[in-house]
Amino acid sequence: EKGGYEHFMLKEIHEQPVAIAKTIAGRFKDGIPDFSESGITAEMLGKYKRIYMVACGTAMHAGLVGKYLIEKLARVEVTVDIASEFRYRSPLIGEGDLVILISQSGETADTLAALKLSKKLGADTLSVVNVIGSSIARESDYVIYTHAGPEISVASTKAYSVQLTIMYMLAFQLAYVRGVIDADQCREYVRKFQEIPDEITALLEDKEQYQYIASKLMNADSLLYIGRGLDYATSMEGSLKLKEISYIHSESYAAGELKHGTISLITEGMPVIAIATQEDLLEKTISNVLEVKARGAMVVMLCKEKAQVASNVADYMIRLPDCEDFLAPMLTSIPIQLLAYYTAVLKGRDVDKPRNLAKSVTVE
Ligand code: M6R
Repeated sequence: EKGGYEHFMLKEIHEQPVAIAKTIAGRFKDGIPDFSESGITAEMLGKYKRIYMVACGTAMHAGLVGKYLIEKLARVEVTVDIASEFRYRSPLIGEGDLVILISQSGETADTLAALKLSKKLGADTLSVVNVIGSSIARESDYVIYTHAGPEISVASTKAYSVQLTIMYMLAFQLAYVRGVIDADQCREYVRKFQEIPDEITALLEDKEQYQYIASKLMNADSLLYIGRGLDYATSMEGSLKLKEISYIHSESYAAGELKHGTISLITEGMPVIAIATQEDLLEKTISNVLEVKARGAMVVMLCKEKAQVASNVADYMIRLPDCEDFLAPMLTSIPIQLLAYYTAVLKGRDVDKPRNLAKSVTVE
């Protein structure tokens, strides 16, 4: 059942190229993303005043990437909330708003409650769900299924990639229906996105470097993940994945925020994993990396192939294939998953069933 892999998590990491391809298949009209099968038409998407993303854990991180993408590409305001916060903060939503609930299981209690509240307040609800017929799928006005197949490992991997996939497709479609880009540009975005599964397959071949870096992380008491913009969203996911299964304390910080308090934590040898895929933010992130390096941090850096980074900046460098900056989260997801996985394996953790956790959180 693990298909020759040692853990479900590793198997599921390797299933990502196929899951992504399945999730986009058949969801285009003239080459433009289209979700009218779910009842959510281009016309409707063009009209919403505001968009909310509400979810928990990894699914919330997918929503964060969605926010950056939709705001950048489609120029529509998006608010992201943790479901357990959203439902108790008297959210200002109502008619004309769209609330997108993201959930692998479709059974997360707080996300389900947030959905019910949104409906009560008059907003339209769209769920992005993996499990067919689950409560969130049934209760929402519209549902877009991700096609990851069953995810067994408690740590979410392939479900995250397909949630991201839907975020990209929605961002592309919204950018088009709102007139920010024309049909050709939209098709060009789609074409570039379609190269992602093959690029992930290639990335998955190079396991040794992740095993090696994991051996440098495994004895840390605590570490930091940093990044800016889209890389900040990915660093939140990287940090969660790593702490969830390795039990190493980890925090994620917006790189520019370090000097407002957190940098005092840096001591000799503390690992800092810096994600820096965004060209316009590279110099800024490098300067933050140099600040932690000067205080003794052991720096692991994730950059694109072409990024110019002086050799004294990082102790270990992970290079990603060059791609459009906005697509980077699809590729950076692989190193963060593999670093978490190999660190947990080296520490002898119960990778697929980390302590104190359940695959589906049906209590509030
Ligand atoms: O089933 P859901 O997507 O609603 O689950 C949400 C979170 O509980 C889940 O993503 C959790 O954070 C993962 N175990 C993280 O790997």
